[in-house]
Amino acid sequence: MLNTQANERLCRVGPGRTMGRALRRYWLPVLLSAEVEADADPKGVELLGERFVAWRDAAGRPGLYAEACLHRGASMRLARAEGDGLRCIYHGWKFAVDGAVLETPNVADPKFKERIKGRTFPVREAGGMLWAYLGPREREPEFPHWPWMDLPDANRLLTRHVEECNFVQVIEGLVDSSHLGLLHMNGLRQTDSAADLEFARKVSSMQRNLAPSLEVEDTPFGFYYAALRQVDDAQGTRTEGRVAAFVAPCMVLNPNGDIATFVVPMGDTRTSFIHVFWSEARELNREPLRSRHLEFIGLTPEVLDAFGITEETLGRADRPGPRNNFQQDRAAMRSGNSWSGLPGLIEEDVAATVSAGPLRDRSNEVLSASDIGVSRLYRALLSCADAVEQGLAPLGIGRGIDWSRVVGTHGVVDGRHWRELLPQEQEAL
Ligand code: FES
Ligand SMILES: [Fe+2]
Repeated sequence: MLNTQANERLCRVGPGRTMGRALRRYWLPVLLSAEVEADADPKGVELLGERFVAWRDAAGRPGLYAEACLHRGASMRLARAEGDGLRCIYHGWKFAVDGAVLETPNVADPKFKERIKGRTFPVREAGGMLWAYLGPREREPEFPHWPWMDLPDANRLLTRHVEECNFVQVIEGLVDSSHLGLLHMNGLRQTDSAADLEFARKVSSMQRNLAPSLEVEDTPFGFYYAALRQVDDAQGTRTEGRVAAFVAPCMVLNPNGDIATFVVPMGDTRTSFIHVFWSEARELNREPLRSRHLEFIGLTPEVLDAFGITEETLGRADRPGPRNNFQQDRAAMRSGNSWSGLPGLIEEDVAATVSAGPLRDRSNEVLSASDIGVSRLYRALLSCADAVEQGLAPLGIGRGIDWSRVVGTHGVVDGRHWRELLPQEQEAL
């Protein structure tokens, strides 16, 4: 439970807010690389309550511009794409992706452009995503290098969708193992017949224990969150551990061990959700595996479009949303064919999360033993806000973390501590 003041502190992401300042101390993934093609039209981007334009020049270099033109604020969404730079249509000032001013045709002095610099932000491209840093230049942190960033594109599959609510409530669902066997009951049942999919095999046994015991442990980057389930099935009786890593400020490594999720605040009540699936052995991003994987998880472009969670369809009256109870199929629920009345895993998560309101009230929630990941999430994020307010570095920044050793993982724990599933513990044994 959080009082209204603490909740506001936790959730508001604009530049004048404490959490907004904390979030601006990190590199954040903004778009998938594939969303921005060389010399294509400028793409509007909303990030941390501010408006930007993403663009890639003809040489393929990506850039992120403040939406307002440096000169007199006309929108750079309207700008002309001219190969080496974006040219504002109002007076023709032209800016390269690194902010260099290439031309100011309405100014006679040819030296004028050398004295000014366009409003662009540091951008990196890694792991199939474009990342941006919006914070103070002198505080730019080291770029976090994850092992899956080194894989070929064919071995990495990415998707992005958008949800109409605050980012914190979206992350909550990722450190809440106990909803899986309930909300996603139907999906988990199907895993038994899709055993050829890595993903299905790893999550299947969750349906056999609805009340896992949960443990949390703080780390320099955030926390580990472990769900322990006593499972009794054809393979015998055992205790399975599923360990997720919350990496501040908005990343969760799924216990499957090969999924990273990023929950990036676009504004206070709009969130961009990126999934990264990878496999060293299999070319996940090639057909037919790509489509089969996306179909099983429910992340095909068709599904995202039908459920109104793309940027083009978000909030459309003809799409599922709070205004029409997410077009829930009550007949299917009554007949026993569907627990949730929603078509798939992603739709279930989106509906459950967004239905709590655009920025949910935490002053009247009743947390239980099943919510220790959620309360630890509040604590971790608020500690980032506290740190920044006190002039200190927030979680994960400047601590020399070896990101190759931070993982989500799972396995049989029988008699051991779940920590032994983690790489550093294995090395210490
Ligand atoms: S407002 Fe953009 S060039 Fe004048
Ligand atoms: Fe879920």
